[in-house]
Amino acid sequence: MNLKKIGILTSGGDSPGMNTALRAVTRTAIQNGLEVTGIEQGYQGMFEKKFVELGPRNVGGIMQRGGTFLYTARCARFLKPEGRLEALENLRNEGIQALVIIGGNGSLTGGLELERLGMPVVGLPGSIDNDLYGTDVAIGVDTCLNTILHAIDNIKDTASSHRRAFILEVMGRNSGYLAMMSALAGGAEVAVIPEIPTDMEEVKQKLVAAFDRGKSHFIIVVAEGAALKTREIFDYLCQHSSYEARVTILGHIQRGGSPSAFDRILATRLGYAAVQTLLEGKSGVMMGLSGKSIVATPLEDVISRSKPVDMVGFELIKLLS
Ligand code: F6P
Repeated sequence: MNLKKIGILTSGGDSPGMNTALRAVTRTAIQNGLEVTGIEQGYQGMFEKKFVELGPRNVGGIMQRGGTFLYTARCARFLKPEGRLEALENLRNEGIQALVIIGGNGSLTGGLELERLGMPVVGLPGSIDNDLYGTDVAIGVDTCLNTILHAIDNIKDTASSHRRAFILEVMGRNSGYLAMMSALAGGAEVAVIPEIPTDMEEVKQKLVAAFDRGKSHFIIVVAEGAALKTREIFDYLCQHSSYEARVTILGHIQRGGSPSAFDRILATRLGYAAVQTLLEGKSGVMMGLSGKSIVATPLEDVISRSKPVDMVGFELIKLLS
């Protein structure tokens, strides 16, 4: 195929660095003589024909901004086979010959469906959850972790002043990565994550022992998707210990903000690699980071395999708190 025009979109939950990736994809493609069409609102935009031609200036001044200037959405219509065919027809009518899709698991599952229908797709991992197989870290994770760390540091100040326990709920529907790594980097005492069961009585005993030996705070970071819910932890501590507890739910603050240097560099390298891959005639893969290298992993593997939990990190939280 003589590649002339590619489409790009962001889909699912936004993550800091998506704009940087859009800039890298657009400019790399244009430098190589390709035309670039931005598809607004993810898969939804394929139905509503929200196609915008992108030149180098359209992606100027955006790399430092969180969110995605192309907007994003979660689209139920695309989940149906007839919906996918309609979307594909609209893409073809627009002259789009290949796609770069930036998003998480659901978005890349959609990408694989399009690839199977004959539309070449290269995916980029954009999700704060860091649950995608095929990359050490996804675009947005580093910024998000730093946002959570800022919150933990602030909470520690007030927690220590009152000698209180704090339960901090962070995002992560199926993945405890953010909870675990922020607990590790923030010096929290416990991480409660979906992948590992938590014994509440054990947590309470740990809390009492920590305060008894002179600690002035006790911070439990809970992933929103963990089986043991924030409310249950709070109620248990109130009923079974004499220490005061408070709850903070960080919510969408975690998803916004200017991307960190790490995320900008990652997004730039991955965006460049995505276009190079298409130019080499390859597709059906997601570009990701492995060590210091950019690697391509088949979309089949990305969506069907899961990332192992870092048990060493989990043990370190216990050991060092
Ligand atoms: O997938 C990323 C994520 O931020 C999850 O951690 C979170 O559960 C979800 O998106 C929230 O989605 P929404 O913004 O649609 O409520």
